[in-house]
Amino acid sequence: MKFEKEILCIGAGYVGGPTMAMIAHKCPRYRINVVDINPEKIAQWNSNRLPIYEPELDEIVSGVRGRNLFFNTDIGAGIRAADIIFVSVNTPTKTFGAGAGMAADLQYVEKTARQILEYSESSKIVVERSTLPVRTAQAMERILISDKPGVKFEVLSNPEFLSEGTAINDLENPDRVLIGSQQTKSGLKARDVLCQIYENWVPRGRIITSNIWSSELSKLVANAFLAQRISSINAISSLCEATDANVDEVARAVGLDSRIGPEFLNASIGFGGSCFKKDLLNLVYLFRNYGLDMEADYWEGVILINENQKDRFVMNMLRNMFNTLAGKKICVFGFAFKANTGDTRATPALTVAKKLMAEKAEVMITDPRALGNAKNDLQDIAGRYKLVDDPYEAARGCHAIAIMTEWKLYRTLDYKKIFKSMQKPAFIFDGRNIADHDKLFKIGFNVFPIGKAKMVHF
Ligand SMILES: NC(=O)c1ccc[n+]([C@@H]2O[C@H](COP(=O)([O-])OP(=O)(O)OC[C@H]3O[C@@H](n4cnc5c(N)ncnc54)[C@H](O)[C@@H]3O)[C@@H](O)[C@H]2O)c1
Repeated sequence: MKFEKEILCIGAGYVGGPTMAMIAHKCPRYRINVVDINPEKIAQWNSNRLPIYEPELDEIVSGVRGRNLFFNTDIGAGIRAADIIFVSVNTPTKTFGAGAGMAADLQYVEKTARQILEYSESSKIVVERSTLPVRTAQAMERILISDKPGVKFEVLSNPEFLSEGTAINDLENPDRVLIGSQQTKSGLKARDVLCQIYENWVPRGRIITSNIWSSELSKLVANAFLAQRISSINAISSLCEATDANVDEVARAVGLDSRIGPEFLNASIGFGGSCFKKDLLNLVYLFRNYGLDMEADYWEGVILINENQKDRFVMNMLRNMFNTLAGKKICVFGFAFKANTGDTRATPALTVAKKLMAEKAEVMITDPRALGNAKNDLQDIAGRYKLVDDPYEAARGCHAIAIMTEWKLYRTLDYKKIFKSMQKPAFIFDGRNIADHDKLFKIGFNVFPIGKAKMVHF
C-alpha cells in the first residue's frame, strides 16, 4: 500500500510513543515510524509489554502496530524516508558545566538535528515536539543548513501538552494544538501541512498558530502556571494547618470564582514528574540569562514551596510520632509521581522515602504500577526498604502509612483490616487528601491530612 505521508518520530518515550500511536490511529493513510537509540525500549514497544503504562495505550497500539505504526532502531533509514520528522527526545536539566541544575540539556536535540542533516536526501519539515528553551529553533535551523542540492528544512514548534495518566484522552481531545512557525512563505506552508495532520481529528478552532518563539515559550509558561497553582494552594495548606482552617473549604470558595476556576487546587505533597521542575528551572534560567532577576526569583519560589512541602510532611511525621522514627516501619502507599502512570521521575515519594530512611526508619513501598521503576530509583540508596506488591502485606506491622500517590485503590482498601495488622498507635499521613479521614479516625487511626486539622486519639 502506498501511504499518503511518511512521518518519523525520533524518541520513543512517554511523548513519542503515545503521540505517534494516536496519529496512526486517527490517520490510517499515513505511515508512522518511531525510532529510538535505545534498542530495549524499541523491543518493548514491539512486544505485549509496552515500556510505559498509560490507560488505553495498549489497545490503541495493538490496533495500529504493524499496520501503519512501526517501531525500530534504524534512524538513518527512517530519516531518509520521512516527509515530516517529529523530534521527541529528552531534554533533562543540565547536570554539568554552565547552567548546571537549571538550564535544559540540549545535547540530545542537537545530536538529532545533526543526524537529520546527515541522512536527509530530500527536503523535510522538522517539528520540535520536545520542550525547549525559547529560541532553540534558531539553533536547529542553523545546524540544518544543507549543502545538498534540493534539500531544505523547515523547523516548526509543536509543543506537547499531554499529561501522563490521561495521555490518550489528552491526545484525542486536546484543549488546543499549538503550532509555531517562521512567518515566511515556506514557514507558513510547512505550518499548514502540520495543521492538516491534526485536522484529521482535532476541530480547526482548537488548532492555534503563532510565531515560533511564542510557541516555544508557551509550553514553558503553561507548565510554570500549572506548577504555580499547586505551590499556591500548598503554601495556603500550611497556613490552614496552623489556623484550623480547612484547605478544601478554602479551595472550593476560591475556585468558584470564575476568574480563578476550580482545577489544580488540591493541596498535596507537591508536584513531581519529569516536566514541572525541569521546565520551571529552565524558565528561571532564561530570566537570569536576560538579566530579569526579580522575575527569576518569583518563579523560583514555586520550586522552593514544592520542596518545602515535602520537608514539612516528613517533619510532621517526625513530630507527631514522638520525635523519633528510628527503627519504626513506615509504609509508603504509592511511588508513581501521580496516579495512572508507572513513571517515577522526580516523584515526591522518593524524596519522602529517602528522608524517612535518613531518620533510620524502615520503609515498605507499594504501588500498583511503579515498583519496577522504584527498584531502579532506589538501587544506590543506603537505607532499609522493601518493595511489596500487596498493600495489605506492605502495611502489616507498620507504625504509619504515608499516602504518596492518589491511586483510586488507596481510597477503597479495607482499612479496618489494615489497622488490625499495624502497630499501635497507628498513624496515617495522607499526602494526597484522598482517604476518608472521618472513617479512618473512627477505625482508630491517628489521621494527618494536608491543610486540615489533625484527628488524634491522644
Ligand atoms: N512526559 C511528559 O508528560 C511530557 C509532556 C509534554 C512534553 N514533554 C517533553 O517531551 C520531551 C520528551 O519527554 P519524554 O517524557 O517522552 O522523555 P523520555 O525520556 O521518555 O523519551 C525520550 C526518548 O528519546 C530517546 N532519544 C534520545 N536521544 C535520541 C537520539 N539522538 N535518537 C533517537 N532517540 C533518542 C531516548 O532514548 C528516550 O527513549 C521532553 O522534552 C519533555 O520535556 C514530556
